[in-house]
Amino acid sequence: MLTPVATTGSVGVYDSGVGGLSVLRALKAKLPGESFTYVADCGHAPYGDRSAAFVKSRAQDIAEFLIRGGAKALVIACNTASVVAVRSLRERYTLPIVAMEPAIKPATQLSRSKIVLVLATSNTIRSPAVARLCSTYGTDTRVILQACPGLADQVERGRFHDAVTQQLLASYLRHGLDAGADTIVLGCTHYAFLFDAIAKVAGKAVTIVEPSEAIASQLSRVLSASAAMPHDTAATTAFYTSGPPRELAAFLEFIGEPAAQVHALPASGC
Ligand code: DGL
Repeated sequence: MLTPVATTGSVGVYDSGVGGLSVLRALKAKLPGESFTYVADCGHAPYGDRSAAFVKSRAQDIAEFLIRGGAKALVIACNTASVVAVRSLRERYTLPIVAMEPAIKPATQLSRSKIVLVLATSNTIRSPAVARLCSTYGTDTRVILQACPGLADQVERGRFHDAVTQQLLASYLRHGLDAGADTIVLGCTHYAFLFDAIAKVAGKAVTIVEPSEAIASQLSRVLSASAAMPHDTAATTAFYTSGPPRELAAFLEFIGEPAAQVHALPASGC
């Protein structure tokens, strides 16, 4: 059954953890007048190898929390949650929902070597959504799909450049680069924080496609179409986490987000 929602309030943004903060940064830059409520499901991250039932149930609980708080739109700033759960959320709620999927279409258009490397979680790599993208846009391009277990955990810990991250990147990039990929798709929002580390391994000749600006443009279009814009004069951003709030606060400080208060995600219903 579709649940009607109010069209005022903030934009709810969520991810399994800190990865979606890369998307939030682009959303705030594109829509400075909007207020945002960000939920990091750090207590349950990573989602990459979780069951579909678990990811869907978290999506449902977090969407419910955001909507009860007055969200006028949702951004699923997580490829894994999007490919697994967006359909069930859209069946249940009437508010606009912006979701993500690996940017295979633009990458195949950008690639000159016609070999594209997609980095994502195991759940995203084996999803029907990615199979559909490959069969639609991979007709004249070889799309190499690389699952990257362990990489999102490194980002959760703020380890963007340590030896383990470098080893993981070297092994996950090797096959695609050796095969001649000239375009890399960051198909997990956590990997945006590894942009520089990935660029260092891949070299200058390789283009890295990071989709957060495209998602911000999509949200802007969706809000305009739903007549839910313009909004606040005093825009705010609230942060909630299912993990320890001090850890998310430390991460926000680490990435240079303005000092923010972080709240514990209420356990009831989440
Ligand atoms: N940030 C998430 C994504 O975009 C997933 C990371 C994880 O929880 O495994 O897919």
